[in-house]
Amino acid sequence: MILLTGATGKTGGAVAESLAKLGVPFRAIVRDQNKAAGLKSLGAELAVGDLSDRAFLDQALEGITKAFLVLPNVEDQEAMEAQFVDACAAKGDIHLAYLSSMESIPGCTTTVTKMHVRIEEHIRKSGLSYTMIRPTFFMQLFIGSAAKIKETGNIVMPTADGTVVPTDIRDVGDVIAKVLTEDGHEGQSYDITGPELLTLGEVAARFSKVLGKEIKHISPPMSAYSDVLRKVGFPEWRVEAVTGELGGIAAGMIDHKTDLMDEMLGRPTRKIDDFVADYAHLFK
Ligand SMILES: NC(=O)c1ccc[n+]([C@@H]2O[C@H](COP(=O)([O-])OP(=O)(O)OC[C@H]3O[C@@H](n4cnc5c(N)ncnc54)[C@H](OP(=O)(O)O)[C@@H]3O)[C@@H](O)[C@H]2O)c1
Repeated sequence: MILLTGATGKTGGAVAESLAKLGVPFRAIVRDQNKAAGLKSLGAELAVGDLSDRAFLDQALEGITKAFLVLPNVEDQEAMEAQFVDACAAKGDIHLAYLSSMESIPGCTTTVTKMHVRIEEHIRKSGLSYTMIRPTFFMQLFIGSAAKIKETGNIVMPTADGTVVPTDIRDVGDVIAKVLTEDGHEGQSYDITGPELLTLGEVAARFSKVLGKEIKHISPPMSAYSDVLRKVGFPEWRVEAVTGELGGIAAGMIDHKTDLMDEMLGRPTRKIDDFVADYAHLFK
């Protein structure tokens, strides 16, 4: 049996969809049953509990041979991820697919990337069979600011002329589902990206072309952006984590794409134009 964490979220949700399409049964950890209607309709078995609870994890891992680990960027992410790895290692024969990021390389400097490097190291030392899933900049991040983009015509991100490789989590979900259902991915580390390296200005131009209305990229000073995050209630740790990543992008942290997803999926991965067209109703 396969165990998914984060299945009510972006990446875990995409993996659940991909597994359901393949007709593969899976168990999903959820904190709140009320959020699980979609997962139930995909045929998921539910394990209701919190990743901070080791006793719950030991139960949820009963009968599991493959697991997918993802958590959001919160202050206790590292502690919860390390505990999940330890719980898998204590069970023994589990293949773990871990959601890290392509920018998490030795010498990286941001809070989130350094944390992923440490957890990857923890997994390598755990004795578990593993696959590191290392995507970059999710296109689905724009869904979070869709109402603002629709209202103002602006994509506001303090990334200056730094580049990103917009990556569709529906493609990432398909890759992770392959890793969880096929042999041959043991000990592998997959840097997976969408097909194009673009500045946010170029991304905004694609939005304009597909939506048929002008969308601009606005790159405010980082201090002003931090103040907005604080105003909407982000705790200080998260403000630092988010601005660290965006500052990294502005400084050129994301500077290449890979063709690995196309090769693994045997089809072209989605471009930002495809994403905007599919979700145009949210932006227009
Ligand atoms: N954003 C990017 O561009 C990008 C690129 C590469 C890698 N990453 C990495 O991707 C990860 C985030 O993935 P995502 O965007 O898919 O996350 P997400 O959409 O925020 O989903 C997080 C999931 O984790 C669950 N969760 C949170 N706390 C939990 C807890 N204590 N116990 C059990 N479940 C818990 C949430 O459940 P609830 O529904 O109950 O909250 C939700 O299902 C981060 O590690 C980030 O570094 C992000």
